[in-house]
Amino acid sequence: MESRSDWPPDWTGRSAIPISVDEAFNGYVAAQIVFALDRLGLFEELLEHGQADVRAAAVRLGADQRMLGELLRAAQTCGYVVLRDDVAAITPAGRDMAFMRGYFTWAVGGYADLFGNIAGLISGGRRFNSDVFRDEAMVALGAGQNDRAFMAETVDEVVGQLDFTAIADLGSGVSARLCRMAAARGVRGVGLDISDAATRLAEDAIRRAGLDGNVRALQADVLGVVKGTENYPVLAEVDAVMSFFLLHDLLAAPDTRSRVMPGLREAFPKARTFVLADTMLRPAQPADATLPVFSAGYELAHALMGVPLHTKDTYEALFAQAGLRTRQVLAFGTPHSWLYVLDAD
Ligand SMILES: C[S@@+](CC[C@H](N)C(=O)[O-])C[C@H]1O[C@@H](n2cnc3c(N)ncnc32)[C@H](O)[C@@H]1O
Repeated sequence: MESRSDWPPDWTGRSAIPISVDEAFNGYVAAQIVFALDRLGLFEELLEHGQADVRAAAVRLGADQRMLGELLRAAQTCGYVVLRDDVAAITPAGRDMAFMRGYFTWAVGGYADLFGNIAGLISGGRRFNSDVFRDEAMVALGAGQNDRAFMAETVDEVVGQLDFTAIADLGSGVSARLCRMAAARGVRGVGLDISDAATRLAEDAIRRAGLDGNVRALQADVLGVVKGTENYPVLAEVDAVMSFFLLHDLLAAPDTRSRVMPGLREAFPKARTFVLADTMLRPAQPADATLPVFSAGYELAHALMGVPLHTKDTYEALFAQAGLRTRQVLAFGTPHSWLYVLDAD
């Protein structure tokens, strides 16, 4: 049974409920500003040099200097930079936002279309995956940014203790974790992701890291692999499997839910260890609870996409039913996300 005493302090959050008019409106604007600063590469520059010259940045980006200046003035209004003589210096709050920017890549970049069409989806005038889409590449990119910022250390420590020669990453996104592991340990890796755009980003990353021989990015539907309708010979060699923030998608359909974990074991017959992490359904909160980052958006987005979320207890029951024994369970960065190291019987 999940206990609040196991939660890191930031999982309870600092956002007071009710969220006031001012906070809701300004939070929306701030989220767009953070996303824009990241897409323009300004966060990278601000983090690296502490400051950015508006004119030089405009020339480098081939951007409109007036609009760029206005964006940075808006960022100053939010407290993320201080502007002096057209040079923007990043503030401590700006550094916090840059550190957490993956959440905004996820929300603004990945789900703007979905959140902008809630009324249409509910009234039936619009349909998800027919005329309303999520941007898979942005979702993968946001997850990758968060991984680098505050999850990589945990993953590398956990996986560093495991013995394996070939590892698969299911829903591998931009394959950042696989590249890191292959580079550090000389192991082979295969990433499976359904998204064409994410797979292309992964192929670029693999090539840039000089890991072409060791790491492969496959565009594949893991659900097809689990059901046995998609087969890839390379998977037979895999002796460890990891998957981060994908399981809820695989478990979405009630009729196939109980087959997912046994199907995974069949698809990877040599795998003795599974490292699986996901964001789970928050336990019921007291009325005076504060709200953390991410959870409310994650829950609403998945409800609108028709993907049910599951409690920690449900995940543990599904693992046990598939003969997977929990060796380790850790709170994993993003609120209500848990990482399991599971041994196959
Ligand atoms: C939230 S992202 C996580 C990416 C990466 N695992 C990470 O933690 O950085 C989920 C990823 O799963 C992929 N995905 C969703 N459904 C999938 C499926 N059925 N088969 C393979 N990949 C899938 C998405 O394209 C996306 O890249």
